Amino acid sequence: MNEDKPVLLSGIKPTGEIHIGNYFGAIKQFVELLNDDSRQGFVFIADYHALNFIQDASEMKRLTRDLARAYIACGLDPEKVVLFKQSDVSAHTELAWIFDTITTMPYLMRAHAFKDAEAKNKEIVVGTFNYPMLMAADILLYDASVVPVGQDQKQHIEYARDTAEKFNRIFGETFRLPEPHILSDVAVVPGTDGRKMSKSYGNTIPLFASREQLADCVMGIVTDSGNDRPENVYAIHRLIKTEEELAPVYEEHKGKYKALKEALIDDLDAFIAPMRDRFESLTNDTEIDEILEKGAQVARSHSEHKMDTVRRAIGVR
Ligand code: AMP
Ligand code: TRP
Repeated sequence: MNEDKPVLLSGIKPTGEIHIGNYFGAIKQFVELLNDDSRQGFVFIADYHALNFIQDASEMKRLTRDLARAYIACGLDPEKVVLFKQSDVSAHTELAWIFDTITTMPYLMRAHAFKDAEAKNKEIVVGTFNYPMLMAADILLYDASVVPVGQDQKQHIEYARDTAEKFNRIFGETFRLPEPHILSDVAVVPGTDGRKMSKSYGNTIPLFASREQLADCVMGIVTDSGNDRPENVYAIHRLIKTEEELAPVYEEHKGKYKALKEALIDDLDAFIAPMRDRFESLTNDTEIDEILEKGAQVARSHSEHKMDTVRRAIGVR
């Protein structure tokens, strides 16, 4: 661990198939930012966050390994970036508990995720309610300064900042305040129905989809008749091509939705193919597990160091 390099950290929950919203909203940014050697990167699999949703051991194992494969297929180099799973580093849950003790219920009740769940009249588990504190621990343990996430995670970064400030105020300067990093032009990737692409809406385009699957998804994109340009098709097209590249295509096929969708299928397939090939070649589970264990060792050594300071600050050591 190089103490001088700013730390970039991010995580994704292993709760389902990775889709192009995750790629353009989050993973692509980690990969680009981490190619810059001036930063130290920590990227993890938020399996304890996912436990709120995935309560089946074999499913958890499969989704976790698939997320590790996805990170690597998208260009993360585990030799350069610390790639690990959250549950391998017990400091995350320990620090989350410490944060729980300085956080009030009304403050957590203002979280969007909690309010959404409440609005749906769901019986909310304590893990969902506390979610922002575990996420604050994920970030603050590594003194992360840059946290690339999608727009929907911005509030969680604010919770991490507030929590760091509150802890520092009570126990003395301990944590560094993180900044979110959100790419504004792809902040929200639309799904095939025009709403935000999300597993829960069933409107996703899987990142490692075969050409046939891609064709099915794209042909299912909702189009508003009467417009020369099908906006939901164009919005996805814009993720992989520039306006200048698309202008002649959309001019030539003005109003012809089927032809425009076919052009999108070709472009998406070409864009995805190298990542899909890499994802499919990573079939050795032992190798994936070893990569994650190696990352966990580095993450544990860094976080233990931080926890030592924290335990002293609160007076348990
Ligand atoms: P999730 O799958 O909801 O856990 O999200 C994993 C990461 O992908 C987070 O950083 C999200 O902000 C990002 N993400 C998920 N869906 C989208 C979307 N439709 N547009 C942009 N970013 C997204
Ligand atoms: N809450 C994030 C999501 O749903 C995942 C996550 C957990 C995360 N811990 C994190 C992201 C720490 C960035 C930093 O996408």
